[in-house]
Amino acid sequence: MKFGIGQAVTRREDDRLLTGAGKYADDLRFTNESHLVLLRSPHAHARILSIDTAAAQAAPDVLAIFTGAQLVADGVKAMRDAVSIPVTVKHRIGVDQDESYGFVRDFVGTVAQAGCEVFTVHARNAWLKGLSPKENREIPPLRHEMVHRLKTDFPSLTICINGGVTTPAQIALQLDHIDGVMVGREAYHNPWIMAGWDETFFGAAPVIRDRSDVERHMIDYMSRCTAAGEPWSRVSRHMLGLWNGTAGARRWRQVWSDHRLKNAPPHEVARLATEARLHGAMAKEPVGLD
Ligand SMILES: Cc1cc2nc3c(=O)[nH]c(=O)nc-3n(C[C@H](O)[C@H](O)[C@H](O)COP(=O)(O)O)c2cc1C
Repeated sequence: MKFGIGQAVTRREDDRLLTGAGKYADDLRFTNESHLVLLRSPHAHARILSIDTAAAQAAPDVLAIFTGAQLVADGVKAMRDAVSIPVTVKHRIGVDQDESYGFVRDFVGTVAQAGCEVFTVHARNAWLKGLSPKENREIPPLRHEMVHRLKTDFPSLTICINGGVTTPAQIALQLDHIDGVMVGREAYHNPWIMAGWDETFFGAAPVIRDRSDVERHMIDYMSRCTAAGEPWSRVSRHMLGLWNGTAGARRWRQVWSDHRLKNAPPHEVARLATEARLHGAMAKEPVGLD
C-alpha cells in the first residue's frame, strides 16, 4: 500500500524552518501593500457600547476603518453599485446580552447612510454564544418596542417588524407603529392564514377561493417546473402546511413527502394526496397544527 492510515510522513520543511530560512506570510513584501490590523477589546466580558474611530481616522496613512456596522454598510454600498433593484437589510436588535437601544440605532443609522432604505428587524437579540439557530428564534426575548422606536427615530426609512407576529389582528396592531410586517414560521406552517391578506391589508377585491384552488395553482406551477427540468419537490416542500388545521392534513402531507413518488407527475401525486386526505378525514383523525 502506498499510503496507509498511521503511516509516518517524512517532514521536508524542518531544515528550512530550523535554519531560519523559512518564510511566513508576515515576511512577504509587495509593492503598494497595505496592512490590516484587528483591534480586540482588552476587557474580558465587557460590553462594547460604541466605538470611537476619530483618533484612528486622524492618524496618517490610515486607508480605512471598519467597525461591524461599517462592514455591513460597505457591503450594501457595493451591492447598490452593482444592481438596479433596491438593497434591503434584515437584522436583529442586538448581539448577545447587549440590550441597549443605541446599538441597533447606530447600526441602522450607519447602514442607511450607505443608501439602504428598507430594514426588516427581527425583534430579538442574536445570542451568538451557546444557542442553535432554532433556539435563537425562540429563546432571546421579543422586544417589539425597540423596532417601533427605530421608526420614530428614522421616519423616512421603511421599517418592517419580524418575530412572533402571527395573526391578522397582531399584524394590524403592528401596522399602527411601523411600515410592514414579516411573518416567518407561521406563514410556513399554516400558509392558509395568508389567504385573506390581499383583501385585508392591500385593499384587493374579495376573491372566493379555497385551499383546493391554491393547490391546483401550485400543481400547474410544479408541472411547469418539471417540464423545465426542476424537480417538483422543490416547490411542494414549501406548501406542506397547506391543509394544516383540517382533517386529513397529515396524510396529505405524507404523500407529498413520499420519496417513492418523486418521479411521478405532480397531478398524479396530487390525486393520491387528495385521496389520502379524504380518507383521513373520513377516518375522523384528529385535527391538529403540527
Ligand atoms: C426554516 C427557516 C429558515 C429560515 N431562514 C432564514 C434565512 O435564510 N434568513 C433569515 O434572515 N431568516 C431566516 N429565518 C428566520 C425567519 O426569517 C424569521 O426571522 C424568524 O422565523 C422569526 O420570525 P417568526 O417569529 O415570524 O417566525 C428562517 C426561519 C426558518 C423557520
